[in-house]
Amino acid sequence: MRLDFTSLSARDAYSWMVSTILPRPIAWVSTISADGKSNLAPFSFFQGICANPPTLMFVPVNTRDGAKKDTTRNIEAVPEFVVNLVPFALAEKMNATAALLPYGESEFEKFGIASAASEHVRPLRVAAAPVAFECTLDRIVHVGEGPLAANVVFGRIMLAHIADAALGADGHPDPAKLDLIGRLGGELYTRTTERFSIKRPDR
Ligand SMILES: Cc1cc2nc3c(=O)[nH]c(=O)nc-3n(C[C@H](O)[C@H](O)[C@H](O)COP(=O)(O)O)c2cc1C
Repeated sequence: MRLDFTSLSARDAYSWMVSTILPRPIAWVSTISADGKSNLAPFSFFQGICANPPTLMFVPVNTRDGAKKDTTRNIEAVPEFVVNLVPFALAEKMNATAALLPYGESEFEKFGIASAASEHVRPLRVAAAPVAFECTLDRIVHVGEGPLAANVVFGRIMLAHIADAALGADGHPDPAKLDLIGRLGGELYTRTTERFSIKRPDR
């Protein structure tokens, strides 16, 4: 089949993109409002983008009404956040935090998610996340306007917390021990427990 994206509605384009661009890692992002209220939400338009300087990005799009999500509002007010990675054991809790809560209501409290203090930034981190990146805002790039338009958030990684239990014998993270989940289309997810390796031609 062929799909002409120039004639698709934004919602249809979104639907085809999220069912073809996969698996997608999930940034479980904690932020804080100007008056100190915590927020936690998942975003699968997410990637690391470079190491010089260490930078990642994720994308809270506008709502269907064209409003900014709480995560965007908070980062504009307090330019710091934590990107927590999501293990299989926290899949249900992560999904719960995608619920629409009134601005200022904490997903940590509402869904009983244990938090831990961060060192470089004010937002809390998810205590049981095997990896948590403390980030300061580099910049927000706006792509499009109105409903589903993107607020691309670039974050400078200041500090990573990596669970000792997720390290292999070589001292590096073991994908099976991390047991992270990735998003597929719709309500489907995948896990990092199945792997294969290929030698790179230039190594
Ligand atoms: C696995 C998963 C991935 C998601 N990825 C995105 C995403 O990349 N961008 C986005 O705007 N919303 C995404 N959502 C929806 C948001 O999590 C949801 O709109 C949430 O309520 C936003 O929270 P906030 O208003 O507290 O920022 C995703 C939801 C789930 C469950």
